[in-house]
Amino acid sequence: MASLRSVKGMNDLFGVEASSLGAVEAIARQLAKRWGAEEVRTPILEKLDLFVRSVGEATDVVGKEMYAFEDKDGSSLCLRPEATASVARMVVQHGILRDNPRFRAFYAGPMFRRERPQKGRYRQFHQVGVEFFGEPDPSADVEVIALAAAILGALGLDDVVVELGSVGCPECRPSYRKKLVEFLRREAVQLCDLCNQRTESNPLRSLDCKSASCQVVFQDAPLPLDSLCETCEVHQMGVEKGLDQLGLDYRVNKRLVRGLDYYRRTVFECTTQKLGAQSAVIAGGRYDGLLGSVGGDEGVAAVGFAAGTERLQLLAREAGAEAAHSPADIAIVTDRNQKVEEALVLMQGLRSAGLVVVADLSGRGRKAKTKWLGRIAHRHSVFLEADGSARLRVEGMETQAVSPEAAAILGALPVD
Ligand code: HAM
Repeated sequence: MASLRSVKGMNDLFGVEASSLGAVEAIARQLAKRWGAEEVRTPILEKLDLFVRSVGEATDVVGKEMYAFEDKDGSSLCLRPEATASVARMVVQHGILRDNPRFRAFYAGPMFRRERPQKGRYRQFHQVGVEFFGEPDPSADVEVIALAAAILGALGLDDVVVELGSVGCPECRPSYRKKLVEFLRREAVQLCDLCNQRTESNPLRSLDCKSASCQVVFQDAPLPLDSLCETCEVHQMGVEKGLDQLGLDYRVNKRLVRGLDYYRRTVFECTTQKLGAQSAVIAGGRYDGLLGSVGGDEGVAAVGFAAGTERLQLLAREAGAEAAHSPADIAIVTDRNQKVEEALVLMQGLRSAGLVVVADLSGRGRKAKTKWLGRIAHRHSVFLEADGSARLRVEGMETQAVSPEAAAILGALPVD
C-alpha cells in the first residue's frame, strides 16, 4: 500500500522545529503581555464571508488562496488565512468593548493559504500577532511597532528593517486610486498581465509587483504617501515622531502597500534579505473601521501586526540565536536487571521537584542506552545499577558510585 504523506505545504513539526516554534511563541507571548495584551483563541474554521468582507474579495489571499468548502448545512466555511478578521469578529460578537473601550489581544496559531510552497512559505503556517482596539492615536501605532521590534530584538535579529508607509483613508484614497488607475492605464502596454488585471480590481497592489520591468515603470507612478489628506499626514508625522523618540530605526517606504484591503493610514513591514523572496517577517498596520465590516461600530480604531512564526524561527536559527530547544534536566537509565519501579519512584520525585526528566527503562543493553544518551546529548545522566547504587555521568564522564538519590541531586545541579 502506498504510504500516506502530509498535504503539500503542510508540515509535521517535531524535535527542534516544534520546540523552537513554541519558544518563539513564548517570547512573543511574554512581550505582548508586557504591552498589556491578553491572549485570545479564535476558531480555525470561520464563515467565508468574514474574510470576503474584511480582507477583500479582490485580494490574492481571498480570491486565490482560500481553503473554502461547503458545510453539510450548505454554509460556506473556510480555514482562516489570517486572524485579524477573526479577532475583530470576536470583539463584536461578545461586545468586548462595551465595558472597556480599549482592548489589546495577542494570538498564536496556525493559518492557511494555498500559496506555492517554498522556503519560508507554507500552506499551513503559524502567526503570532497582536490587535489593539479603541486607540486612534498614533502612539498606539508606535507601541505596536515597538513591540514588533522588541520581539525581533529578543530573538537577536538585528538585520531586520522596519519599513513604514501609509495607504491613506476613505477621504484621500479614492482620489489617489483614481490618479493611480489613470497612470496604470496610460502605461498598460509596458506592464505585465497581472498588473493590467489589478488596474481595475486592486490597483494599489500593482505597486508591489515582483517584475523588474514593471518596477521601472513605477518609478514615475503617483505614490500613496505623497497623496495623503491632512489628517493622514498628521497621523503619519505622529508615528514617525514617536518612533524617533523611542530611538527605533525605520525606513519610510513611500510605495509600501499591503496585500489585505482593510488597512487605513499606517502600514509597516519588517523585512530581511535572508529569506530569499519571502522578505516580510512581520507585517501590520492600522485598520480603523474594520469592526464596521464585521457588524460592529465603524467608528472603532484598531491597529496590529502578525509575524510569520516559522520565518522568525528560520531567522533566529541563522542568527545562531536558537536557545529554544532545551533538553531535559536529567536522564535516568537503568541497568538491565534494575527494578523499573525504583526508577519510576525516583523520577516521580524529581519531576515533583520541577525537573524535566527523560528515561530509558527498557531491557536494552548498556551500550544501546549509552548511545541513546549520546544522541539526545544529555549533560547529566544517572545510571541505576543492579546492586542498588547509581553512577552519575556528567558530559559523558562517569563519576563514582553513589546512592540513587545523591546521583539524582548531583545530576540536577547545573554544570556551569
Ligand atoms: P500578512 O502580511 O498577510 O498580514 O501576514 C503576516 C506575516 O505572516 C507575513 O509577514 C509572513 O511573515 C507570514 N506569512 C504570511 N503568509 C505566509 C505563508 N504562506 N507562509 C509562511 N508565513 C507566512 C496578516 O496576516 C495581517 N493579519 C497582519 C495584521 C495584523 N495586520 C494588522 N493586524
